Amino acid sequence: MKGINGQTTVLAIFGDPVEHSLSPVMHNAAFRDLGWNCVYVPCRVLTEDISVAVRSIRVLGYKGVNVTIPHKQAVVSELDEVFGDTRLSGSVNTIVNRNGKLLGTSTDGSGLVRSLREDGDFDVAGKNVLIFGAGGSSVAIIFRLVTAGVKTLTVVNRDFTKAVNLQEKVWLRTRFAINVHDTNRLETLDWSSFDLVINTTSVGLHNEATIIPKQLLSRHHFVYDLVYKPGDTTLINQAKEVGCRTLSGLSLLLYQGVESFKIWFEEDPPIAVMREALEQAMRIRK
Ligand code: ATR
Repeated sequence: MKGINGQTTVLAIFGDPVEHSLSPVMHNAAFRDLGWNCVYVPCRVLTEDISVAVRSIRVLGYKGVNVTIPHKQAVVSELDEVFGDTRLSGSVNTIVNRNGKLLGTSTDGSGLVRSLREDGDFDVAGKNVLIFGAGGSSVAIIFRLVTAGVKTLTVVNRDFTKAVNLQEKVWLRTRFAINVHDTNRLETLDWSSFDLVINTTSVGLHNEATIIPKQLLSRHHFVYDLVYKPGDTTLINQAKEVGCRTLSGLSLLLYQGVESFKIWFEEDPPIAVMREALEQAMRIRK
């Protein structure tokens, strides 16, 4: 981005809140590196305004938009078509404007799988996966894990009914039987069977709490905490102490952004540049 002018291509992120989003930082870093005349802007969109905001993408000629909390499900009804994981999950984080036609998909699942492969040297196919949380983030990634060929999926959620509802949804759409388990009986799970443990809840974001007691972790677990913050979460720090391989949500943020960029521009962005921009932004937040 050399300077905004009459030819600048505009992309955006719609969410509420959106002021802490690091997506503008990484995408604008990529555009600068490539010397492209593009800009990516944050747009705070209230729930009651999301329909008109999505329609405005066409009117204003934005090339692409990321969608974040709380609009990932609500935007679907305003799109001309959805593709990829969204057909199963109903969750959208990426909209592309193809000559006035708005297409939506989610790169949360593909971003997670790619992040595990490229940053963790870990292939999810054939693995036994334990997931904490049954909310929006969990739904967005679970269908991709199923289609990527995980062997088993176990979901633990504070609200057990929500986990059962998710189990039913996954069964109806994919015929894959996920296991659900009660949060209060974590020690009765067969922890030795799990290869990958993912936290999709917000536990640990604003305090030192952890969703998984340290004594249940073993060094053979790969621990992925979707939460990221300067200095890492207690879950990540304890997993490292135990000797686990770990990744934080910063890696997911990067790769879901890489996958969105590919959908908008049909090529990979400069990943190292985007990663450096994110890491620098996190250092400033410390
Ligand atoms: P997101 O889109 O980030 O997934 P969400 O849909 O609100 O947000 O889901 C939040 C998830 O974090 C849920 O699984 C929630 O558990 P409940 O369904 O029981 O509410 C989980 N969560 C949030 N705070 C939690 C806490 N203090 N302890 C355990 N789970 C928590």
